[in-house]
Amino acid sequence: MVTAGVNFAPSRSGTFDLADEIAELKRERKAVILAHNYQVPEIQDVADFVGDSLGLSYHAQKTDADVILFCGVHFMAETAKIINPTKTVILPDLEAGCSLSESCPPEKLAAFLKQHADKNYYVIAYINCSAGVKALSDVICTSGNADRIVNAAPPDRNILFVPDQNLGAWVMERTGRKMDLWQGNCYVHVEFTARSIRKIREEHPGAPVVAHPECTYAVRMLADEVCSTEKMVTFCKNSPADAIIVVTEGGMLHRLKKEIPNKTFIPGPTDNCFCGECRFMKMNTLEKAVNALRDLEPEITIPEPIRKRAEAPILRMLELSK
Ligand code: 13P
Ligand code: SF4
Repeated sequence: MVTAGVNFAPSRSGTFDLADEIAELKRERKAVILAHNYQVPEIQDVADFVGDSLGLSYHAQKTDADVILFCGVHFMAETAKIINPTKTVILPDLEAGCSLSESCPPEKLAAFLKQHADKNYYVIAYINCSAGVKALSDVICTSGNADRIVNAAPPDRNILFVPDQNLGAWVMERTGRKMDLWQGNCYVHVEFTARSIRKIREEHPGAPVVAHPECTYAVRMLADEVCSTEKMVTFCKNSPADAIIVVTEGGMLHRLKKEIPNKTFIPGPTDNCFCGECRFMKMNTLEKAVNALRDLEPEITIPEPIRKRAEAPILRMLELSK
């Protein structure tokens, strides 16, 4: 297959089978391919591990590969680099960012903490943030371990939760722990509305709704289960239902259909024509992944003082959620 306008070289065998090309390069580079559940199907299908942010962090921590090809967004690859400073970490497209991460620039957080020094905040950062924000935090959490991390926070400290207000509010409901919330959100998950979920429920009576905690309160209230993308797989496997409404980024459906082929998955709808896909996650393509492994770039680099400060809160999280 020849893809117009894409910069990649033919394999040595002369074919353009990208899956074969990537397998060969992977061996040569002693590389591991980690992919998030929202990646395009072709990438998920060649990855060594596909999962949520927590699973990906654990895999990044334990790998003995020389190179990590991280197929996800920038903050995920950065997390892998923070805990693997001597490994080469590459991302197919360096522009694959995250609206949630962008809502909390490190300089703004530093200024806020300075302005509210009297609060002596214990900062819990959702992993969807930059290395600079992680470096200012006490501990990191993901949607898969947020309750546990918040429950482990010192009881006598004020907590500032950054950057996702929806996930933060969900954890407050579950733990009963009061927290001050940074007002950030994910541009994909806030597109799902109570109206759109009610409508799809009417169209599929009996189908349970599973939603990501980055969704708004109104949507979470209508869901039968709210959980991380990895826990969605378990929920769907265990549910007695034949059809399930999945309220998160569209890439999730590939993993679900592949692992649970006997069930039907209905993508969560929005009120407008928004496709439910994260434009950042979708910047990575298999062609770009092949190029990255071949050229060992774009490479993730982090200034050492920031990396060092960002490492401690990630390791604390990994220790706390074992
Ligand atoms: P998970 O860790 O649940 O996969 O979520 C990551 C993410 O970016 C959700 O938008
Ligand atoms: Fe960020 Fe939202 Fe995309 Fe997840 S889906 S990477 S939170 S913009």
